[in-house]
Amino acid sequence: MDLEIKNLCVEVEGKEVLKNINMKFEKGKTYAIMGPNGSGKSSLANTICANPKYKITKGKIILNGKDITKTTPDKRARLGLFLSFQYPEEIPGASLTNFLRMAYNNLHEEKLNPMKFLKLLKEKMAELKMADTFRRRYLNQGFSGGEKKRCEILQLSILEPKFAILDEIDSGLDVDALKIVCDMINKIRNNKKEMTTTLITHYNKILQYIHPDKIYILYNGKIIKEGQKELAIEIENNGFENIIKENDK
Ligand SMILES: Nc1ncnc2c1ncn2[C@@H]1O[C@H](COP(=O)(O)OP(=O)(O)OP(=O)(O)O)[C@@H](O)[C@H]1O
Ligand SMILES: [Mg+2]
Repeated sequence: MDLEIKNLCVEVEGKEVLKNINMKFEKGKTYAIMGPNGSGKSSLANTICANPKYKITKGKIILNGKDITKTTPDKRARLGLFLSFQYPEEIPGASLTNFLRMAYNNLHEEKLNPMKFLKLLKEKMAELKMADTFRRRYLNQGFSGGEKKRCEILQLSILEPKFAILDEIDSGLDVDALKIVCDMINKIRNNKKEMTTTLITHYNKILQYIHPDKIYILYNGKIIKEGQKELAIEIENNGFENIIKENDK
């Protein structure tokens, strides 16, 4: 799925968080968005998925040539956009199984009955090495940080979207869990080659497992640099200071 962001300006709670952003995401490719804390990465992800808190004051979001700037979150999910949250919400009252089945059936023409869905869920949970007991627990309630992240990937693997933004999916994962999660992401990408993947991250480590075609650096609500995987290594070694200085010149 091709997604284009044109001259996008966004406000949240009266504060301008994105300032004239231009980006292009091509079908089947992998992108990374990096940048210091508070630079607007999660705001961008939320805006792409139409979180109503984020108000577009200028610019457009174009999906496969169609302007989707004004479409609702639900419509965007049906078009195939998926966001895995930096801070996944706890949803008391909805078991993981029921929540995921509802999400699946909401997005697919061909609905799955509880039996069929359970088969799919069990298969995916086994691949993610998630204990069976999670199925009956309320979504994310009492889950550890890493368990919540794994659950986000479980959702990704079940929904198989066309455009996935994974906001700090690597934060809070231990080394083994990071590997399991990245293997799963790569497997999903292999199954569904047209899926566009965007990773928001602070670390080069995840980019060693999932290779980005392009890295964007966001700072103070603006894209200040684009590059290849070497850029992530430079950031790991030297931080953002030089890149920011270069941009200020
Ligand atoms: N819902 C909100 N209400 C108020 N301020 C917000 C909201 N969302 C974002 N902001 C502000 O917008 C700025 C960008 O925040 P954002 O979460 O997009 O940064 P980020 O790049 O994802 O940072 P991090 O790396 O820490 O996750 C911050 O100054 C933040 O306080
Ligand atoms: Mg963030």
